[in-house]
Parts: sequence; C-alpha cells; structure tokens
Amino acid sequence: MLATDRSFARLVDYGGGTVSPEIFSSPELYEQELEQIFARCWLFVGHESQIPNPGDFIRSRMGEEQVIVTRDRQHQIHVLLNSCPHRGNMVCRYDQGNALGFQCSFHGWVFNSAGELVTLPQSGDGYDHMRKEEWGLMRAKVEVFQGSIWATWDHSAPSFLEYLGGCDAYLKTSFVDADGSDNGAEILGSPMKWRIGMNWKVPMPDYDIPHAWTTHRSLAVGLGVGPSGAPIERGPDGGYVGRLGRRNTMQVSFPEGHTTAVEVPSDHANGAWPDSGEYDDWPIIRQYLRDKYEARKMRLGVLASQEEGPHVFPNLGFFGRVIRVLHPEGPASTEMWSYFLVDKAAPQAVKDAMARYYEHWYGPGGMTQKDDMENWYVLTRWTKGHMTRKLRLNAQLGLGKPPLDGPSTFGLPGLWAPSYSDENTRRFYQRWAEVMQARAWDDLRVKDTVR
Ligand code: FES
Ligand SMILES: [Fe+2]
Repeated sequence: MLATDRSFARLVDYGGGTVSPEIFSSPELYEQELEQIFARCWLFVGHESQIPNPGDFIRSRMGEEQVIVTRDRQHQIHVLLNSCPHRGNMVCRYDQGNALGFQCSFHGWVFNSAGELVTLPQSGDGYDHMRKEEWGLMRAKVEVFQGSIWATWDHSAPSFLEYLGGCDAYLKTSFVDADGSDNGAEILGSPMKWRIGMNWKVPMPDYDIPHAWTTHRSLAVGLGVGPSGAPIERGPDGGYVGRLGRRNTMQVSFPEGHTTAVEVPSDHANGAWPDSGEYDDWPIIRQYLRDKYEARKMRLGVLASQEEGPHVFPNLGFFGRVIRVLHPEGPASTEMWSYFLVDKAAPQAVKDAMARYYEHWYGPGGMTQKDDMENWYVLTRWTKGHMTRKLRLNAQLGLGKPPLDGPSTFGLPGLWAPSYSDENTRRFYQRWAEVMQARAWDDLRVKDTVR
C-alpha cells in the first residue's frame, strides 16, 4: 500500500532542512514503513556468538515480526518467520535455547532448524495430498558480516555490502577485536530490552551534539557523574573537550542513509584511544585497550582511533560498542534492544568491567538514556495534534554548507560535515523518503556511493 495521496517532498524537504511532524504519528505512514522499509531493508537480527552450535537459536525481531535465528546441523544460519503456516500460531516461545526442531503448540506441526516442515501428526490421515516442502516456515535472505547477522525479506535486495555503500569500513571496525583482528567480538549475555512510547525514528540518527548541553546538562555542569567520574566540558567554540583537548569529530553520512561520527585523522587522534579520558575510572579496561593499541594501529591505520560504530539505515545505532536496535510497535511505541559487544578473547574480569561500564552509561537506567527517553516520549506524544501536525520541524543547522568529500579530503569514505550540523539528520530523512516511495530496489540503487 502506498500513501499516494501524500507528497513526500512535503513531508521531507532535504534542501530546505525541514520535516513534517506527521512522519512520527500517521498510522498510514507507519503501515507504509512496515511494507516499504522493514520488509525490504537489511536488518540486524543478532550475532554468530549467540548461536555457536548446531541447534542453537535466538528469537529476534524484523519490524513488527518475530523471527527465529537458527544454526542447523550443517552450521548454516537461517532466519525464519516465527509464524506457523498452519493457522498462524507462534512456533517458538523461548528467547534462546538449543533445539533441532520446533513443535507448534496448537496442532503439533514440527519444523527443523532450517525451517522445513518435517512432521505432521495426522500425516497418513488426510494430508496425503499435501506437499510438505511447500509448508515450511518463511525464510529471509541472510548474510553474515564480521560475525553480525543481517536479514531481509526482499530476495531482490542488493548484497549487504552494496547496501552499506562506503559505510562498511566503519561497521567492520565495530566488530573486530580491540587489537583489530577480524571477527574478534562477541555479544555479552542477552540483549537488554525495554519499551518506550515513542516513534522508532525519533532517536535516528543520534549524532545530535547540541542536545547534549541541555538534555544531558547534569553531566555537563560538573556533577562528576559521567563514566570517568569527570564532567564533560564545553570548549570556546562549542566543541566537546576531552582530557586530551578538543576532540575533532565530524559527522559522516552516506547516500544509502547510514550515518556516523568520525574523528578527523591526525597524529593526535591516532594517540587518543584508549587514552581519551573515557576510561580513567575504569583502569582495567584502559590497560586492556592500551595493551592492544599498537597492534590495532597496525591493522586499522587511521580507523584505529574510532570509538563509535555507524548508524545503519533504518533502525540500528551504536554507542561505542553498544548496539541499539529500534523495533517498531506502532507509530507511538518502540522496543529498544541493546546488545553489549566485548572481545571474545578478553579476560573475564575485563568483560565484567565492560558490562558494568555499559550499564552505567547506556542501559535503560544509564546516565544518558534516561535523559533522552523523557524527551523522545514527550515529543512523540505531543506532535500528533491537528495543529501541531501543521508545523515544520527544523533540521537546518549547517544548511547551505555542502559536506566535504571524504575520500579526496580525508582518505576515508563518506560525506563529511562539522559535528555541529543537522546534515546526518537531513540525510537520514532524505533516504527515508526515497525508500518509502520506491517501488523496487532498482529505483533505490545508489549510483554515486561515497567510498
Ligand atoms: S497452528 Fe501450528 S500446528 Fe496448527
Ligand atoms: Fe542523548
């Protein structure tokens, strides 16, 4: 269903830097998002470390749908719709476990971990005409990227690498070991999950630096409640000042709708991580990262100092090595899932310290998320009124300054804008409007990706 009566040029004006609040409240647009975005885009569903053995499974989400992510006897990974093709009952009710089959609790149909229908209780008794191979669980197209598992319902979608455009370099950096070696990360425990009454797009993308001085004022006024126990300071030009001086971070975006924040490559930046001050009160983490840093620089070059993973369109974000996925549950409700990434090979004491650090900073009661969630909820609740919907919301910071070309200016991919800019926000909504209107992937292929 396409909302053909709506002009997307009115809903999102990239050149003018405004969006309509209707995109946060309209039930028709929400239905269209489920079809145009969540049934077609590549979505993060989990990590290989959650299902290391044959028979292992986790329950995950794709849009409003539940999926089962499994590893079969041949070690192949599958992403299966958690809906029985008999009468639509849920086939798997556990969040995780090990089982080579799933028996539906309604009439007992049994599916193996590849999603094939293997047993029918009444098989010789009236089902002789039925071809079992036509009645398996619906399967998504799956790709694994540095251990992370991605799926799409659209079998005509481009490869995941093409979908990422030039963003793959930054995403890869998030899943390597602290020393830069491939596939070094694992998920610690199960994701934290909580529900909030907001539209799923509100926190995307989250490199809105100016909000920090107001929303997170308790961190900025010297209360000493940040993870390092120190206040965040504001520099003379408004930039963030870390313990090593001003951090020169810029916003980076891609025509494919992905966004990130990148430290400008420089000798200074190359020495900043792990000694940015972030871990001053977490000496065990700081020492672990210090010990790995020379090897990391050898393997990753200028990307070694990147701390922040990218936001991948449509609904995945990173805070450092915390993955946050926004699952829609209606125009005004979202389930937030946070996964904590750690190095597989790290000593247990370091993993434990990382878990405490992540909870302290990014969990639902963490120092930043609870400030943010208050605004996200109120914004969603009060932008659906008849008059409020007529407003234009402003994303004009830095408008009129074309972003710099990353490859020729910095030797790194993407379109680069100052950290004080709404460029990433404008880019996200520009892509949102494109995907909402496109009838097929051929209309969406980005010709001038910035690698
Ligand atoms: S609904 Fe699943 S076996 Fe009938
Ligand atoms: Fe925030």
